[in-house]
Amino acid sequence: MILITGGAGFIGSNFVLDWLANPAAEGIINLDKLTYAGNLANLESVKDDPRHVFIHGDIGDKELVGKLLKQYQPRAIINFAAESHVDRSIHGPAEFIDTNVLGTFNLLECAREYWGALAEAEKESFRFHHVSTDEVYGSLSATDPAFTESNPYEPNSPYSASKAASDHLVRAWFHTYHFPVVTTNCSNNYGPYHFPEKLIPLVILNALNSKPLPIYGDGQQIRDWLYVGDHCSAIREVLAKGKLGETYNIGGWNEKANIEVVKTICSILDELQPRSDGKSYAEQITFVKDRPGHDRRYAIDASKVERELGWRPAQTFETGIRKTVQWYLDNPDWIKGVVSGSYRDWLHKQYN
Ligand code: NAD
Ligand code: TYD
Repeated sequence: MILITGGAGFIGSNFVLDWLANPAAEGIINLDKLTYAGNLANLESVKDDPRHVFIHGDIGDKELVGKLLKQYQPRAIINFAAESHVDRSIHGPAEFIDTNVLGTFNLLECAREYWGALAEAEKESFRFHHVSTDEVYGSLSATDPAFTESNPYEPNSPYSASKAASDHLVRAWFHTYHFPVVTTNCSNNYGPYHFPEKLIPLVILNALNSKPLPIYGDGQQIRDWLYVGDHCSAIREVLAKGKLGETYNIGGWNEKANIEVVKTICSILDELQPRSDGKSYAEQITFVKDRPGHDRRYAIDASKVERELGWRPAQTFETGIRKTVQWYLDNPDWIKGVVSGSYRDWLHKQYN
C-alpha cells in the first residue's frame, strides 16, 4: 500500500481517483484532517472501493501516524496535506506553521522511525514524496528566466515560507539521516474538485451566479498553469523513477496573466452557457484591491523532469481549461455541497 496525506483536498483527491482508475494499482491509506478544504464528496466514486481506506486525522498526531505506519506497512508516503491558500495565510498564518512546518516535521520523524525498522529490501525501496510549490522560489520579473531546481529559495508569503520550511526539513532528513525522499515543486494547478477560494473555480462560480469577478490589482500577474491530472501523472512518475534526494520542478509551460485567464473562462462560458441577457460574462470583471506582497510572476522550467524521467504535460491550457469549465457545469451537486457556511464566511471576510 501507499500512504497519502491530504487526499480529500483538491490535488490529493484527484491523485486518489487517478491512481485507483488503474485496476492493477495498490491500495491507498488516505490520512486527512478534513479542514474546510478537505471534502469527502471528492472521493464519492471510490467510497466502496476496498483499495481505499480513509482515516480522519492530523499529520501532526504522532501516535496516530505511528500506529498507521505499523498497521499498514506502506511502501511509500506522499505528503499532500497542507494549508494551501495564500490569502488565508495572510489573514491567519498560525495554521500554516502548524500543518506545513510542524505537521511535516512530525510525519518525517514518524516515517523515519518506521523506515529505520524495515528489513533491508523494504528499506531500500521505501520513498517519502513531498509535494511542494513553485512559490518557494519567490517572484520573477517579466524578463527573468523560469525557475529551475537550482534557483535560491525566496518565499514572500506566509504560505510559501511555510512550504519552503517544509522543503528544507525534507532535504535535511535526506542529507542527515539518508532518509529516502523526493520533492516536487509544482506550478498553479486547476481542474475538477478545486475549492472555489482559488482564482479559476471562484471565477467560474461567480460568473454563473451573476457576481463580480474580482481581479487583484492590474491583473497582469503571471502564473504558470498546469492541469491537475498532469500534476498527478508527474507525481506517479517521480515516485516511481525519481532519484533520491532530488527535487523536480513540475509545470505546464503555460504562462498566463490573470486577466487573460479570466477572459478565457468568460469566453468559454459565453459559448457553453450564455448569459440570459446575451451579454458576455466579461462584463462582470471587477478590479479590486491588490493582495499584500503579491508575487508578480511565477514560471517553471520543467525540463529536468522531462529530460531525466520523460514526463511532459498532456494538456495545454486551452484543452485543460475547457475540460475544467465543463466539469463545473456538469457538477452542480458538488458545487452546492461546497458552498457551505465556511466558504461563504471566507468570501465575506476577503471581498467585503
Ligand atoms: P487543498 O487545500 O485543496 O487540500 C489540502 C488537504 O490537506 C485538505 O484535504 C485538508 O483537509 C488536508 N489537511 C490540511 N491540514 C492537514 C493536517 N494537519 N493533517 C492532515 N490533513 C490535512 O490543497 P491542494 O491544492 O490540494 O494542495 C495539495 C498540496 O499540493 C499542498 O501541499 C500544496 O502546497 C501543494 N501544491 C498545490 C498547488 C495548487 O495549485 N493547488 C500547486 C503546487 C503545489
Ligand atoms: P490563487 O488561485 O489564489 O493561487 P496563488 O496565489 O497560489 O497563485 O491566485 C492565482 C492568481 O490570481 C494570483 O495572482 C492571485 C489572483 N487572484 C485574483 O486576482 N483574484 C482572486 O479573487 C483570487 C482568489 C486570486
